[in-house]
Amino acid sequence: MRIAVAREIDPEPRVAATPDTVKKLAALGAEVVVEQGAGLKSGVLDTDYSAAGATVSQNAVGDADVVLKVRRPANGEVAAYKSGALVIAIMDPYGNEAALAELANAGVTAFAMELMPRITRAQSMDVLSSQANLAGYRAVIDGAADYGRALPMMMTAAGTVPATKVFVMGAGVAGLQAIATARRLGAIVTATDVRPAAKEQVESLGAKFIAVEDEEFKQAETAAGYAKEMSKEYQAKQAALVAEHIKKQDIVITTALIPGRPAPRLISAAMVQSMRPGSVIVDLAVERGGNVEGVQPDAVTDVNGVKIVGYRNVPGRLAASASSLYARNLLNFVELLIDKKTKTLAVNWDDEIVKATALTRDGAVVHPNFQPKPAA
Ligand code: NAI
Repeated sequence: MRIAVAREIDPEPRVAATPDTVKKLAALGAEVVVEQGAGLKSGVLDTDYSAAGATVSQNAVGDADVVLKVRRPANGEVAAYKSGALVIAIMDPYGNEAALAELANAGVTAFAMELMPRITRAQSMDVLSSQANLAGYRAVIDGAADYGRALPMMMTAAGTVPATKVFVMGAGVAGLQAIATARRLGAIVTATDVRPAAKEQVESLGAKFIAVEDEEFKQAETAAGYAKEMSKEYQAKQAALVAEHIKKQDIVITTALIPGRPAPRLISAAMVQSMRPGSVIVDLAVERGGNVEGVQPDAVTDVNGVKIVGYRNVPGRLAASASSLYARNLLNFVELLIDKKTKTLAVNWDDEIVKATALTRDGAVVHPNFQPKPAA
């Protein structure tokens, strides 16, 4: 059983294995081959991988039974893979039917780590959580770096610096970490979400919860624990509440997402205008269209002195930490696919975790959510 760790295409700085996970994969019976330079941008040298027991090679993927990646193979990468290989990555499947067809046609079995079901057994494989947690932390660091004042209250002989007001919109994994980080830095934190379960979590972190708590709000969580798209009426009420609150905020961090849908628009251009110059908005949803009107990907946009920060791939801004958690997620998933006695691949296609994440198999797209649409 040969497991390859692929080098990512620029500019992705993360890597799908660390020396620690290489050792553990080898212990499971795998021969691990790492592509030259795969870990460099996460601070891992080729020699670190070889010391952990991997072979480092210019072309690792060609005869691998399993290919570990961060991103879905692109730019023809999959053509180099063996037909029947298991390819495990963040596949970004929504709206990318052509790319999924390419994977199916290449004959690989692709697993999308972001489709991991949110069940207890799969928590250690949940890449959305591991990466969102770091993104939430980094959003506060990025916001603070662009803000011209200190976050904590400081009483000095030269006078008092007031504490910064931070408002976090969307209190899922990223939002909760943003709240905790902003609190640690001494900010006064408020937060909002459309899921009622978020209220208690926000309050337990010492932040104030702000939301339109009507009948729709009480129903606004799916069985999978994700947000639903809210009605036009709810969105209008939410916007009115936010418009009043946001005027008084210094740093706003938006993290709101709905799986498979464009990000909900939470901050209008008028709301941006209502903020004081020097305020900072960090939009973590920019890759999915953004929560903030006027956000630009990978740029800091100045709107009358209000900065809108819109980095893509925020976990990649902490590449070493992000890679180490992501690699652990993959290791836990691969462990599920291996028979420990025979030390060979043995995929149980009836396992709930396998069924939820398998995208392609035997030349076809097999996931029910991504079936090719019949020609009109
Ligand atoms: P996400 O990344 O899909 O969305 C981020 C947040 O945005 C969510 O809290 C969502 O409710 C919120 N949101 C959506 N539309 C909004 C709007 N219009 N206004 C304000 N907020 C809005 O969600 P994430 O972070 O992946 O987590 C969702 C839930 O799943 C959380 O409660 C989390 O704790 C839970 N979870 C459970 C796991 C498990 O049981 N194994 C593992 C990981 C997370």
